[in-house]
Amino acid sequence: MPALFSPFTLKSVTLRNRLAIAPMCQYSAVDGFVTDWHLPHYTSMARGGAGLVIVEATGVSPEGRITPGCTGIWSDAHIEGLARIARAIESAGAVPGIQIGHAGRKASANLPWEGDDHIPDGDPRAWQTISPSAIAFGGGLPRVPREMTLADIEKVKADFVAAALRALTAGFKWLELHFAHGYLAQSFFSIHANQRTDGYGGDALRRGRFLEETLSAAREVWPEHLPFDARFGVIEYDGRDEETWQESCALSQRL
Ligand SMILES: Cc1cc2nc3c(=O)[nH]c(=O)nc-3n(C[C@H](O)[C@H](O)[C@H](O)COP(=O)(O)O)c2cc1C
Repeated sequence: MPALFSPFTLKSVTLRNRLAIAPMCQYSAVDGFVTDWHLPHYTSMARGGAGLVIVEATGVSPEGRITPGCTGIWSDAHIEGLARIARAIESAGAVPGIQIGHAGRKASANLPWEGDDHIPDGDPRAWQTISPSAIAFGGGLPRVPREMTLADIEKVKADFVAAALRALTAGFKWLELHFAHGYLAQSFFSIHANQRTDGYGGDALRRGRFLEETLSAAREVWPEHLPFDARFGVIEYDGRDEETWQESCALSQRL
């Protein structure tokens, strides 16, 4: 596998090899702030030799976090801690990336070692979730989300833009949008989660609109010379694999 260890250049960024650490939630933040856990964790990933280290799914808003232990980037106060991590990754020879996202109806969950399920209603740590439609994810995530208004949609897009700018200020060189794993963006694209009858629901074009608009808005503020990607879930495991595959390929091309 000689190519694995050869450099890879995308735009103005060159990775020392093609090994990338995918974003992995650490569930160890407090109010979105990184803690003493995160710096050695990410530094050791970079020292291990990877070319790219992508920091975990980081909430663009408090209610966009998966759990209360997830990192956040909804305020300028979060920048400093994230900047230390970006610098540490870079000084260990890897390119620092970050994934930003909104967990939608899967937000407000317990930490994995506390059950990984929704925090019960009435618990002061729980919060109201939002989604394209008021349909619960189900299983251990039964909380019924509030259907997003058009104002909510504009707010979340603006949150992604502000988060992208903060990621840039923090020194990250690679930005990833979390459009996968059944979180907010993927919920918009899903016929199961999205039953809207306005311009954001219906056929695949309209279900993809939130993803396209969010990506375009973030694209405007993220520098053209730096890598920018979206992690996108393709198959819904509902027996419509060929159809969802075709729809997802078409959306990927539009993105
Ligand atoms: C503890 C843990 C946390 C994860 N957190 C995220 C995350 O924040 N964002 C994301 O897109 N994927 C997340 N994933 C999925 C991983 O990025 C990755 O896709 C998965 O571990 C499969 O790895 P592979 O693609 O190398 O087989 C997480 C996985 C694990 C094990």
